[in-house]
Amino acid sequence: MAATLAFWVLAAISCWNFHAVSAQPSPEVQKRISAAIANAAHHNSTDVDYTQFVNVFIGTDNFGDVCPGASVPFGMVKFSTDLTGYAPAGYVTDPTQKIRGLSPMHDSGTGSSLGTYGNFEIMPMVCPHGFNSCPLTLASRERFRKNNTDDASPGYFSQTLDNGIKMEATSTRRAGLERFTFPKGSKPYFVLDLANDLPASFAGGHMDIDPEQGRITMGGLWGSSFGPSLYNYQAFACYDLLDGGKQKLSEWGVWTGMTSEDFQTAGLGLTHLNLTRNLIGGVYESGALFSYEGNPEQVNIRVGISFVSTDQACANAESEVGNASFEDIMAQSKALWNEKLSKIEIDLKDTPANVTEMLYSSLYRASLTPNNATDETQGPFANTTHPYFDSLYCSWDTFRTFYPLMSLHSPVEFAQIVDNYIDGWRKLGWMPECRANNLPGWTQGGSSGDVIVGHFAITYHNEAAALGIDLDELYSAMLADAEINPPEWNTLGRQADVYKQYGYVPFGVLDTSSTGRQTREGSRTLEYAFEDFAVRQVALLLNKTEDVATYTNRSLFYRNVWDPSVTSDGFHGFMQKRAPNGSFVHTNPVDCSPKDNDTNRECSLQGDNVVGFYESSSWEYSWFAPHDTAHLIELMGGNATFLKRLDHFFDAGYYLAGNEPSFQTPIGYHYANKPADSVDRVRDVVFTNFDTTPAGLPGNDDQAAMATVLAFHLLGLYPVPSTSQFLVLSPMVPQYTIHNSYLNVSTTVTTKGFDARSVQRTIPKGAAAYVKSVTVNGVVQPTRCHLDFYDVFRVGGEVVIEVTADKNEANSCGASVPESVSTGGFASVR
Ligand SMILES: *[C@@H]1O[C@H](CO)[C@@H](O)[C@H](O)[C@H]1NC(C)=O
Ligand SMILES: *[C@@H]1O[C@H](CO)[C@@H](O)[C@H](O)[C@H]1NC(C)=O
Ligand SMILES: *[C@@H]1O[C@H](CO)[C@@H](O)[C@H](O)[C@H]1NC(C)=O
Ligand SMILES: *[C@@H]1O[C@H](CO)[C@@H](O)[C@H](O)[C@H]1NC(C)=O
Ligand SMILES: *[C@@H]1O[C@H](CO)[C@@H](O)[C@H](O)[C@H]1NC(C)=O
Ligand SMILES: *[C@@H]1O[C@H](CO)[C@@H](O)[C@H](O)[C@H]1NC(C)=O
Ligand SMILES: *[C@@H]1O[C@H](CO)[C@@H](O)[C@H](O)[C@H]1NC(C)=O
Ligand SMILES: *[C@@H]1O[C@H](CO)[C@@H](O)[C@H](O)[C@H]1NC(C)=O
Ligand SMILES: *[C@@H]1O[C@H](CO)[C@@H](O)[C@H](O)[C@H]1NC(C)=O
Ligand SMILES: *[C@@H]1O[C@H](CO)[C@@H](O)[C@H](O)[C@H]1NC(C)=O
Ligand SMILES: *[C@@H]1O[C@H](CO)[C@@H](O)[C@H](O)[C@H]1NC(C)=O
Ligand SMILES: *[C@@H]1O[C@H](CO)[C@@H](O)[C@H](O)[C@H]1NC(C)=O
Repeated sequence: MAATLAFWVLAAISCWNFHAVSAQPSPEVQKRISAAIANAAHHNSTDVDYTQFVNVFIGTDNFGDVCPGASVPFGMVKFSTDLTGYAPAGYVTDPTQKIRGLSPMHDSGTGSSLGTYGNFEIMPMVCPHGFNSCPLTLASRERFRKNNTDDASPGYFSQTLDNGIKMEATSTRRAGLERFTFPKGSKPYFVLDLANDLPASFAGGHMDIDPEQGRITMGGLWGSSFGPSLYNYQAFACYDLLDGGKQKLSEWGVWTGMTSEDFQTAGLGLTHLNLTRNLIGGVYESGALFSYEGNPEQVNIRVGISFVSTDQACANAESEVGNASFEDIMAQSKALWNEKLSKIEIDLKDTPANVTEMLYSSLYRASLTPNNATDETQGPFANTTHPYFDSLYCSWDTFRTFYPLMSLHSPVEFAQIVDNYIDGWRKLGWMPECRANNLPGWTQGGSSGDVIVGHFAITYHNEAAALGIDLDELYSAMLADAEINPPEWNTLGRQADVYKQYGYVPFGVLDTSSTGRQTREGSRTLEYAFEDFAVRQVALLLNKTEDVATYTNRSLFYRNVWDPSVTSDGFHGFMQKRAPNGSFVHTNPVDCSPKDNDTNRECSLQGDNVVGFYESSSWEYSWFAPHDTAHLIELMGGNATFLKRLDHFFDAGYYLAGNEPSFQTPIGYHYANKPADSVDRVRDVVFTNFDTTPAGLPGNDDQAAMATVLAFHLLGLYPVPSTSQFLVLSPMVPQYTIHNSYLNVSTTVTTKGFDARSVQRTIPKGAAAYVKSVTVNGVVQPTRCHLDFYDVFRVGGEVVIEVTADKNEANSCGASVPESVSTGGFASVR
């Protein structure tokens, strides 16, 4: 999802106001990163620690919803503090918000305004008047931070409370260590919360204290942050309090309380809680309270997490942490991160420092989610023998750039996630669209998983079997999404029957075959059509000749919601929703764009979103036919009008950098044979919307959708999902190498003539940045607008992108513009 349900209201207030809030991370964080980049640039070392260049705080302000917590790549555990107010990922920089506690599970870059996870919070405190005086409930224990001291880096998170207690954490996939440093001479107390999570969704649970072993186990049921409240997921935790016998408990007990009644009570020596769902409504407040003997300055606590059982949570802590030290676990995490980050290496000497920081911070988040919950499965997935990932949040966000970036260097990980998508079909009948908290979340554009598995099939079909993917099974899963009408398409599948019957998703149709919220007919038609293109691509790959014809036809259904009669700002023809009788039901193409004056208009999943589009305007979605832009140009009146309309789209402010349907639009100029205009536009987009501050994302990261579109912009590439085509732009680094260790190839891209002065919002006169020629392994390419994955990143070698300051010289593609179905493009797969 691109935004919170309240996004349009929030956007009106503050989304475009970048540096409104003073940064909370310690100023030392940016100093440390800048020094590391400067040092690496001067010392031409082969042993680079890439984690030093990562700023995990990018996207923790301005509704970026990034989790800066301690995590390993794709970690199920992400330790972060949870703050009050709007904080879907737990942490936010806003210094006026208070800390609720430190907790082991979070998502990153998801816009649910409710927040997600945040279960099993622990809050350190000093209680000068003893056990019965500790503040226990959420509202009473919340505290401000010590301002400007927050610190974090890959594998490490730290925050200090305003009373001087420092909290630190580091993690493995399913476990981790917490370290608390108390003011000298104070007795350490801790509240461990059983019931509260960020979305306040507790549906019953239990807790047991074993004082001998110094172990607290707990578990329960909670609800999804972005899905039907009817469903619950289970989660379990195991807290080991004694640091392998080095620490001793003083007091322990359980507590309960009610914030509304300002009442709390702790039972010294009691060890068991068993709570049901609060049927009358509201949040239970309950948990454990314990203290340590001997006023230790430092307390170490080990935490294990599981989605299966408390036993498994404890076993995970034993096997993944054991008695390893905080420093050991941190070093292990850092090593795992370096393995991921070094898949793309750059010329550190000549790359502008901001670009190095933005790129590695983006690559970091590109491996932060989804959360690898393999062997931690529940519900229909219990005991599956396939890999399992939680938080596919959502496929509508990630199919465009996240998985195509992964396909460049990590086919093994990509295959695991694809297997997980197929397993969704095996267990539930359709592939997941938006899995949130292990539960099916709300469908956005249809079954975008089709495009994700399609991209895998197109790029790695030669290796699919070796990577554990049966392409026939993959194709069956796609066909189920495309053909089988689910009883309800709010969470899985598409409104397939009526879409097939009418050639578009009709507005106001009597559909007795499937239930769902009847909104977003325009954008659903456009997304369904592109999903059909993905099916068509795999049909082509598997020689399913009849299916190729069927799905090629269906991929052109986007045309059926094009209404040539609609005019806006002098441009003719827009996508519109359409009634079953074929007539269009008009809404203003400006509605739900950033220029919409009605800040109360509903634009997301709400039942009263009547514009026909999801989190977008018709101005924005009318560009969406990535597989057939050539025909879109014709619909819009030819190249000249198309180019004028593109310029107007940006100049008039209809473009929304933080919204996925807008991702490819800045590169639209390529299709009208003006690639140098795309280069100008992408520079402007990057330096208007992204930077290295906590507010440095144009909104929600959407599980690194934003991170990966930025990474592609910096590398001068853009993928066409479900194809092997990459559009070529102007890299903002002088040289980079992409390693694909599975294929055992490396590809070095050199920007010949690179001028660092061009790396800014407006390319200054005389700075080389426009693509003059593209050479692959010594062969000058006939076109400078596109490349094929099979000719480049699958074979490795040397790519030279020569740039010039002469824009006119570079402002045409040469032999061919990028492909489109209607002009004979994508005729075969490689
Ligand atoms: C860095 O060192 C490598 C060998 O270690 C060498 O090939 C390369 O030219 C050096 N680069 C610079 C910019 O000095
Ligand atoms: C931190 O800054 C915020 C906002 O200026 C302020 O409200 C809060 O009191 C400060 N906290 C401390 C511990 O000084
Ligand atoms: C909690 O109580 C319920 C109902 O009394 C009981 O069925 C369940 O076994 C108990 N669970 C635990 C872990 O004590
Ligand atoms: C940690 O555990 C391992 C295996 O259980 C043991 O061999 C080792 O001595 C322990 N180390 C410490 C520091 O306790
Ligand atoms: C999963 O396996 C465990 C252990 O073998 C078993 O107790 C449990 O019932 C299984 N669950 C399902 C849903 O098959
Ligand atoms: C997920 O976890 C499993 C089990 O540890 C591991 O085999 C797999 O490589 C992990 N996958 C990724 C993408 O991290
Ligand atoms: C599809 O047909 C081509 C050309 O005849 C052949 O090379 C390829 O192996 C076939 N693929 C499959 C999956 O049958
Ligand atoms: C495409 O499908 C429509 C019906 O959905 C049909 O009228 C048309 O003939 C088909 N076109 C082709 C080229 O198959
Ligand atoms: C078609 O349906 C729309 C929406 O229900 C309605 O407003 C319009 O009058 C209908 N047109 C015809 C020609 O029946
Ligand atoms: C929004 O308000 C401004 C200022 O009143 C006006 O110029 C503009 O035309 C309005 N836009 C729309 C789409 O109504
Ligand atoms: C647009 O330009 C491209 C590339 O020059 C050309 O192939 C195409 O025919 C033009 N399209 C139209 C509708 O003029
Ligand atoms: C680079 O970063 C510095 C410091 O954050 C900032 O002042 C400058 O504007 C940035 N430059 C670009 C091109 O983003």
